[in-house]
Amino acid sequence: MKPSSFYVTTPIYYVNDSPHIGHAYTTILADVLARYHRLAGVPTFFLTGSDEHGQKVQRAAEKAGITPQEQADRTVVHFQALWKKLGITHDDFIRTTEPRHTRVVRKILQALYDQGEIYKAEYDGWYCVPCERFYTDRDLQAGKCVECGRSLERITESNYFFKMSAYQDWLIRYIHEHPEFIQPDFRRNETLGFLQKPLNDLCISRPKSRLAWGIDLPFDSGFVTYVWFDALVNYISAAGYLDDDARFQRWWPANYHLIGKDILTTHTVYWPTMLKAMGVPMPKTIFAHGWWLIGDSKMSKSAGNVINPIDLADRYGVDAFRYFLLAEMTLGQDCHFSEEAFIRRCNADLANDVGNLLSRITKLVTSYCGGIIPAPGEDTADEPILRQAVLKAVKTMEESLGRMRLDLGLAAVIGAVREANRYLEKRQPWTLAKQTDKRPLGTVLYHAAETLRIVSGLLYPVMPDKMILLRRTLGLPAEAPALDQLSVWGKLPPDTVLGETVILFPRITTAPAEAKPLAAGQVPKTDLVEYADFAKIQLKTARILSAEKVEGADKLLKLQIEIGGETRQIVAGIAQHYAPADLAGKTVVVVANLKPANIRGVESNGMLLAASQGPALRLLTVDGDLPSGAGIK
Ligand code: ME8
Ligand code: MG
Repeated sequence: MKPSSFYVTTPIYYVNDSPHIGHAYTTILADVLARYHRLAGVPTFFLTGSDEHGQKVQRAAEKAGITPQEQADRTVVHFQALWKKLGITHDDFIRTTEPRHTRVVRKILQALYDQGEIYKAEYDGWYCVPCERFYTDRDLQAGKCVECGRSLERITESNYFFKMSAYQDWLIRYIHEHPEFIQPDFRRNETLGFLQKPLNDLCISRPKSRLAWGIDLPFDSGFVTYVWFDALVNYISAAGYLDDDARFQRWWPANYHLIGKDILTTHTVYWPTMLKAMGVPMPKTIFAHGWWLIGDSKMSKSAGNVINPIDLADRYGVDAFRYFLLAEMTLGQDCHFSEEAFIRRCNADLANDVGNLLSRITKLVTSYCGGIIPAPGEDTADEPILRQAVLKAVKTMEESLGRMRLDLGLAAVIGAVREANRYLEKRQPWTLAKQTDKRPLGTVLYHAAETLRIVSGLLYPVMPDKMILLRRTLGLPAEAPALDQLSVWGKLPPDTVLGETVILFPRITTAPAEAKPLAAGQVPKTDLVEYADFAKIQLKTARILSAEKVEGADKLLKLQIEIGGETRQIVAGIAQHYAPADLAGKTVVVVANLKPANIRGVESNGMLLAASQGPALRLLTVDGDLPSGAGIK
């Protein structure tokens, strides 16, 4: 079911301002799809670019006191630099001010004009600048734009129109006959809903006296075209339409136009009718994903609530950023952005699961096998379970790519990694190492390492740099394996010599959502610890006898506690969460062997444990009755 070629596009973004994580998301999604197809050996063309004409750019330029072209030139580099930083592997970047594009737009306009598809008429209606869309009186919602709810500009002037209404019945039929054309399904229904109202003809021009920043109409130099009749055409002008027929035949129709749901109608109504009038085949699938939200509103330049992708990538790494965006958002749905969610997911999936598996394997192979991956011996009952889980993840990833549910594919891969971590815990290679028969040890280490070989291939399109690093550490060739090498178990050659050990995904330690000890200065490093180190900490149950405020410190309470008959004093930063009177009689958990500390002049012998997240904090207690002084394992 491999396609013979794969052509994927992103929207071309407006250059009135710098990119934010919404733009990064669509582009990373396209990049990951392109990379998977290349690994599957499918010739791939990945296009992105910039939308440079129109009122938004002209106004931004006026504000900055520069020409629109200068405005475009200055802003487009932010996009190009971001794509470079994020490891985006687009094959082409089209700018709508380039002659290779404007030429094609003019040819198309002339041809459609000659065919009688474009006519001149008096326009009287409303215009939304942020959405770059025209509306008639009956389109409005309480006098505002139906798309974004903002105020509109009244416009009365002569203009050119494309006979879009003539294609309404055809389009409805086409959508019904091609269920894959608009995805996900609920977006198809949304488009069909829109098409229940009579479709207007599309205004495609502006008189130059009102807007000069566009492409001259070839048949009337008093007007320019811009926005949709300009921008949408990028998908074919970049692929060689009316310029290089062989190239155009090779790539068109596009497999995916990836877009956000904000530009659904323009892509699922305007674009197909334009193509139909030109006699060009339809793209296979227009896929509209949801929005990244901040609070309850869309992250957008005009709302001024944007998160800068460069900041996040700088702070936490490009690959973690790419992974987070794809794994966190259910493809198609909206998703709330928060840095807490970012940290939580990276620590859980990347540091605790993938990174941990790699570091365990390298440590074990180094300690017990001289840094050389051993050959596997005979299976026990556990190896087939692991193999199945991993090979199932390969299948799930493949299927989820076909269904545009990359998030599910990634979840399956992380699930396989967890399975491998469980496998190690169950088979206990550190115990097997003590046996004289080393074959069982070899089996376990080989299978765990083979899991990572496959995982490195599956995750490569999402996290290329990290997966190259992982493969180097395992002693594998750095380049990603072809996808068909992943569905076969046992491709990892035994006797592979490990490369240099790295910490693949350092834990992000600024997590606000950690269960944290309370005494000042006692926050431990949350790096992975050896069991032997953990065992040094004596955790015990303690009964709180009494509590009182510490003078002059509004966060601290001084507690008298009893640990197995011994009474002690502990200072804890919980005054804003517990009243002293509520604490007496509670059985809590303390670190019993902490060196005494002096907190605000009060001696503290031990530390109370609590879990906190955001403003909430709760003490750790035991589930049921236990005397104080019980050890915790
Ligand atoms: O609309 N969440 O450009 P644009 C998710 N030039 N994705 C988002 C997003 C968010 N909060 N905000 C933006 C235009 N995007 C036209 C397109 S195409 C022929 C012309 C992404 O700069 C998403 O892909 O407003 C959305 O469709 C696109 O950026 C809009 O970018
Ligand atoms: Mg927009």
